Amino acid sequence: MSVAVTIVGSVNLDLVASGASLPAPGETVTGATLARHPGGKGANQALAARRLGAAVSLVGRVGADAMADEALALLRQDGVDLSGCTADPAAPTGVALIAVAPDGENLIVVAPGANAGFAADALPAISGALIAQLELPIDTVAKAVATADGFVALNLAPAAEVPPAMLARADLVVVNEGEAAFYGAALDVVPGLVAITLGARGARLMRRGELVAEATPPKVTAIDATGAGDAFVAALTVALLEGQAEAAALTFACTVGALAATKPGAQPSLPWRAEVDTMLGKA
Ligand code: RIB
Ligand code: NA
Repeated sequence: MSVAVTIVGSVNLDLVASGASLPAPGETVTGATLARHPGGKGANQALAARRLGAAVSLVGRVGADAMADEALALLRQDGVDLSGCTADPAAPTGVALIAVAPDGENLIVVAPGANAGFAADALPAISGALIAQLELPIDTVAKAVATADGFVALNLAPAAEVPPAMLARADLVVVNEGEAAFYGAALDVVPGLVAITLGARGARLMRRGELVAEATPPKVTAIDATGAGDAFVAALTVALLEGQAEAAALTFACTVGALAATKPGAQPSLPWRAEVDTMLGKA
């Protein structure tokens, strides 16, 4: 069954240095190799949902610069509707500086540029299912959620204070362990599902503090976890919108996240539906 979803979120160009180790504060690590990949949590989730078979629109903001073309290239190529993605003449496209170690762990610093200038009053009307993250101004995310008329999935990343009404509107919240600790009991107001990702250990699905399902990902060799969390968010949302049972949807999302960790970069690593179905023994 084909589903449709709008993503309101960030678009970044990722500058990725892959080296022998991650630097500690004050340390210099040399000998890395550099790559440029399209990224940004919003854009990554949009492409992930698209590659899983959904019809996807991305609402976001880039700069009027050459980095925007690079950042939007895969979304354009794979058929994400970018009519809600506008260019800010006064700010550069968002950039993420990413360091990746051989075991796939990463460090990320984001210079949000045009993402930070995407004000709530510039939001177009949104209908149907929505996925949002916290790499846009919180007021903008809050307005998108408040005006949404369908299923609302919220990826509370990176962790930041949000209005309780935003949590109270969520059909699905996705956090990693650090974010889960940051929000703590605030997540109790979420009426829908709360998914906690546990990296290579998989994920847990809760409702009002009660365990609904747990899943472990397939054993893979992780080389770059960048984008794996975004792949998980998109996959869990798409699976639930398709009507998959909660446990099956969680297993599906863990598999999509694991596959994204086996390849370098955020967007280039996002798997297509056929690869996921093969891995799940469905193809
Ligand atoms: O979630 C991964 C993403 O976070 C990267 O693509 C980077 O752009 C940052 O936004
Ligand atoms: Na990856």
